[in-house]
Amino acid sequence: MRVRACFFVLFSLPCLLCVLLSSAQQLPPDAVVSARLLDSHLQDSAFRALFSPITGVPYDAQVPTNLSGIKVSAMRLRSGSLRTRGVLSYKEFEIPIGVVEKPYVERLVLVYQNLGNWSDQFYPLPGFSYLAPVLGLLAYSGVNLSASELPELDIRASEKPVLVNFPHVRPAPLGALAKCVYFDLHGSVQFDTLLPGNVCSTMQQGHFSIVVESNAPSPAPSSGGEFQDASGKNNKKNNKFMLRILVPCVVGGIVLLIIILGLLVVLVRKHTKGTRMQQLECVAYSNEIMDMTSIGDIKVPLAFGTRTRPMIEHDYFP
Ligand SMILES: *[C@@H]1O[C@H](CO)[C@@H](O)[C@H](O)[C@H]1NC(C)=O
Ligand SMILES: *[C@@H]1O[C@H](CO)[C@@H](O)[C@H](O)[C@H]1NC(C)=O
Ligand SMILES: *[C@@H]1O[C@H](CO)[C@@H](O)[C@H](O)[C@H]1NC(C)=O
Repeated sequence: MRVRACFFVLFSLPCLLCVLLSSAQQLPPDAVVSARLLDSHLQDSAFRALFSPITGVPYDAQVPTNLSGIKVSAMRLRSGSLRTRGVLSYKEFEIPIGVVEKPYVERLVLVYQNLGNWSDQFYPLPGFSYLAPVLGLLAYSGVNLSASELPELDIRASEKPVLVNFPHVRPAPLGALAKCVYFDLHGSVQFDTLLPGNVCSTMQQGHFSIVVESNAPSPAPSSGGEFQDASGKNNKKNNKFMLRILVPCVVGGIVLLIIILGLLVVLVRKHTKGTRMQQLECVAYSNEIMDMTSIGDIKVPLAFGTRTRPMIEHDYFP
């Protein structure tokens, strides 16, 4: 039983590792850099829209022309009011009471991003396609509104989660399951269940969207020049994905197999030793049983079993 449990654990370990690795996905490093650069550009653009702003009012910002298609807004808040009142609706975001920032600032600015048709470009997700644009919510200190290249504050919901209500979501293909995807500021990717009404929930800031697994990473691209290009790119990404997820899994699996084989050898050796001992004991025992004793002219096996019945012994040996 114990051996079986041991084997079960050993064999399930590589699988578990693979699942963990694949669920703790990461954006490629170059994508993280460009996404962070974009955050920085958009913070700059958003803050330009805040010219003697009214607290709690969203201001739409202008983005550089080479980023047209992206929407950015900024809203300045007192951190006390954010914590005790929340923001009922800031574009697609619903911020509950209990959201606190670290480090503490008296005023903060919430920058909203809607990456629109740039979502794929800045947040490439091999194996998935977006059903909604990537939306971002990031917090910055609102002390100096002409500051640029500000670091983000760390904001967290402490009681209820922040909700993201996606209004225009493309329907998922038949049989495919739409999921929420969450990118934190370091490029790690997490998936979560989509709540009814196309709502995602989060306890932290970052970027959010709805995705569906895109089936058929087909190696042979079909008709359509434009499409061909896109799927070729996708294949490259898929290869990267395979390299980053599958290779470590396979290597881990092989190492574990070697360990398992080693254990098997040890176990088998122990086992054979044990059986040999048993055999020896058996032989010794049978020798004992087969010990012959002469009674008169006849040779009779002397059985120890009779020792338990002294009465009979008395009968045979008066
Ligand atoms: C947009 O142009 C600016 C310079 O004006 C450049 O720094 C930035 O990288 C460009 N962004 C993209 C996405 O091309
Ligand atoms: C997104 O759309 C805008 C026009 O609305 C266009 O200028 C821009 O190049 C598009 N971006 C991408 C990545 O296709
Ligand atoms: C605000 O930031 C700008 C740009 O970094 C800087 O020039 C200015 O001195 C800062 N103002 C204050 C009051 O810190």
